[in-house]
Amino acid sequence: MKRDFLTMECLKKNEIFEVFELAKKLKESQKKGIEHRILKDKTLAMVFEKPSLRTRVTFETGMTQLGGHAIYLAPADIQLGKRESVPDAALNLSRWVDIIMARVFAHKTVEDLAKNATIPVINGLSDLEHPCQIMADLFTVTEHKGSLENITLAFVGDGNNVCNSFVAASTILGFRLHIATPAGYEPERNYTVRAKNVVLTNEPREAIRNADIIYTDVWASMGQEIEAEKRKKTFSRFQINSDLLRDAKEDHLIMHCLPAHRGEEITDEVIDGPHSIVFDEAENRLHIQKSIMVWLCQKY
Ligand code: CP
Ligand code: NVA
Repeated sequence: MKRDFLTMECLKKNEIFEVFELAKKLKESQKKGIEHRILKDKTLAMVFEKPSLRTRVTFETGMTQLGGHAIYLAPADIQLGKRESVPDAALNLSRWVDIIMARVFAHKTVEDLAKNATIPVINGLSDLEHPCQIMADLFTVTEHKGSLENITLAFVGDGNNVCNSFVAASTILGFRLHIATPAGYEPERNYTVRAKNVVLTNEPREAIRNADIIYTDVWASMGQEIEAEKRKKTFSRFQINSDLLRDAKEDHLIMHCLPAHRGEEITDEVIDGPHSIVFDEAENRLHIQKSIMVWLCQKY
């Protein structure tokens, strides 16, 4: 049976650590210049309904380093569900390529791709989750903190796709998660009702107290541009700035999935400051996604 990676729940705890182990090896090989063409002659189709810098470049570069090839399909190319139905697109791609990665609006689109494709499908971000990002982020935490044992992560801002994936990850892996959002912007209830280690609050200061990692993301996600001005007002108390961080642990780390809206959810001095590891996260998108692709292709 082929496996897909659509949400954090698609992987069990031990499988997440298998992917981390493989990512570590692939990262070492790449740093030492050791060839690792494990996916030689394989092709990845990258389907995008939304813009991207990191996801596109890391998947494409990753496939090149693994000896394969990636095809970028821009929003206007496929027009999923308009020019052609999602199942038909999946059935066509399955006859030609070896893996599909899709960045979509409705999560159902990536589910329908997976349901109809005979090859692995990876979620490169949907309105519901961004699991590749959370894999890269947690891998980055293990590099900086040694492990995920006794880690408290504070997520401050919008209870969005990135936040939902953290909630799911916390349920699987057991790290503590403090989430501070304005009222009405909490993560998916379906996710939080099952969570055991998640604390929801409307107070950023409460969330960051004793947190090892302080994480934020944009206040208006892709597809919510029309709400951006309203959200700027609603979220202004949720900015990660040096005043807020006066209450943070001395050895806290600052994370952001990027792109950042500097001056909104995070200030320049924080994102460029000594606690920030945002570009380590960005780099690790490359290594973790190479690992996810190899894991999905080799194991199943
Ligand atoms: N973090 C992230 O997914 O970045 P892009 O939107 O640029 O791909
Ligand atoms: N929550 C953001 C993440 C971007 C990588 C969005 O969906 O736009």
